Amino acid sequence: MLKFQCSTLSAALVCAVCVLHLAFTASADEHKAPLIIAHRGSPCHFPEETLEGFSRAIEYGVDYIEMDVVSTKDGHLICRHELTLDDSTDVADHPEFAERKWATTLPSGREQSGFFAANFTLQEIRTLYARQAIPFRNQASSHSFRVRTLPEVLQLAMNSTESGRPVGVYIETKGPAFHSSIGQPLEARLVDALIAAGYGKMAAAPLILQSFELQSLQNLSRELEARGLPGRADLVWLLDCASEVNDTQLDAFATYGYGIGPEKSMVATLDLAPECARSEGDACSAVSPSQTCTGRLTTAAAAGAAARSGATVRSGLVERAHARGLVVHPYTFRNEGRFMALDFDADPLAELSLFRELGVDGVFVDCPATAAEWLATQHLTPTSWIGSVIGGPGPRQSAAIASVSVLATLLAITLVWGVVTLVRHRRRQRAKYDFFPSMFNTGDLTWYPPDYRRAVVDEAGGGSRGEECGEDTPLPTSIMMTTIDSPPRIAERERRADNAAGGT
Ligand SMILES: *[C@@H]1O[C@H](CO)[C@@H](O)[C@H](O)[C@H]1NC(C)=O
Ligand SMILES: *[C@@H]1O[C@H](CO)[C@@H](O)[C@H](O)[C@H]1NC(C)=O
Ligand SMILES: *[C@@H]1O[C@H](CO)[C@@H](O)[C@H](O)[C@H]1NC(C)=O
Ligand SMILES: *[C@@H]1O[C@H](CO)[C@@H](O)[C@H](O)[C@H]1NC(C)=O
Repeated sequence: MLKFQCSTLSAALVCAVCVLHLAFTASADEHKAPLIIAHRGSPCHFPEETLEGFSRAIEYGVDYIEMDVVSTKDGHLICRHELTLDDSTDVADHPEFAERKWATTLPSGREQSGFFAANFTLQEIRTLYARQAIPFRNQASSHSFRVRTLPEVLQLAMNSTESGRPVGVYIETKGPAFHSSIGQPLEARLVDALIAAGYGKMAAAPLILQSFELQSLQNLSRELEARGLPGRADLVWLLDCASEVNDTQLDAFATYGYGIGPEKSMVATLDLAPECARSEGDACSAVSPSQTCTGRLTTAAAAGAAARSGATVRSGLVERAHARGLVVHPYTFRNEGRFMALDFDADPLAELSLFRELGVDGVFVDCPATAAEWLATQHLTPTSWIGSVIGGPGPRQSAAIASVSVLATLLAITLVWGVVTLVRHRRRQRAKYDFFPSMFNTGDLTWYPPDYRRAVVDEAGGGSRGEECGEDTPLPTSIMMTTIDSPPRIAERERRADNAAGGT
């Protein structure tokens, strides 16, 4: 009975600790900062999609580095955001390639012309330099870094195990329908490259695949399954401001997808000044901030602090996605005022804070340094407190929380165990005193534990002995007999042993 009650007590205590542990973890989750996704590396400092830009982002502790893939003429996947090389490389300065310019109509119906990566071999592309694609950004490192292949960038990610596991990779298939139409489908090669880089074996390496085209995501999913890696990558469906995604479509995507990546003006609605609405067919320019045109959040009538309150500008997209278990990673957070609503007064930290308030799960950022600075200003208790002690945002934080809470639980269990053992030990002592009163009882009770003294006094008064586990009945003799070996028994055993030895 005693044993049973003490085990019940300790089990209950351990359970209580477990519940506390779960509650702590859950509340840590609730306060989790959005994932920081380094959009094309670190393009506010370095030319986009270069090893140097990705390395810089990793140094800032981002959760994911984000890249786009297009195919070369000879079927290699390279990291470029555009189908054409014009804006992000120095291809135009190479007279030997002057004849490569091409114009075509993309499957989407859009006309495009320029130096398509698909018209160059990898060897030719290796002779080009990457260039800062946005004209008003620092051009200092243009013409310093090379265009890189997907396997090179994956290797960089796999090498970055400072946080205990590789930095996440977040890969977009660029123009998948176009690539299929010229006989260079991206999906199978992308999966091959991932397997070659070790993503098949290392299940813990975070991996997200993204596309504007659902067909590409479905094909990726099928390719992974065909290679025995079903569900290995999380799939994110990108939405531009022209997409009016309805609930039926979200329901269907939620059956295999992980999340959506909407243009940020789909999350916090924006009004552009009428003069900003540009030509027909360029639907996004009507609602999205751009290099040349920005606007105010829809509630701009109540300008200033009120307009920045999440409740007033919520589009409802985050709630619709969350209701289906999909995460929301809006794009793109940039430092320049011309890329954000006027309400933020060109303060990228204010913009990030509003989106955090809107409940987004991740953000695509051009400036990992700014994201790191913003995270440091956020009061993310208890997650970021622990994270900031350990240092750096991202997976490191979660690892820190996990290990701290596991340690705390172990400590608590050990403590409970210790207390229970102590209590049991004292009971045994008491049992011993009860069993051999003549051996121990010197007539002086002062050196006995206080509750023993009380028990002796109670017994003298005819009352029953109180039990610590809440039992009023006296300790059964059988327990006392099994817990200690009495001198008479020892003597009895020795006598029997002697007899046995003598008898042979
Ligand atoms: C570019 O590639 C496309 C598709 O393979 C081909 O049809 C076209 O002729 C090429 N253009 C040039 C200029 O090489
Ligand atoms: C990754 O590490 C390997 C082995 O240390 C090294 O050879 C390779 O150059 C590294 N690659 C990158 C892209 O950092
Ligand atoms: C996806 O796979 C189907 C069937 O093989 C193919 O017809 C289609 O072109 C692929 N689409 C893309 C975007 O790769
Ligand atoms: C949702 O959108 C899809 C594609 O545009 C369309 O086919 C479907 O009818 C829509 N469903 C509803 C319920 O509006």
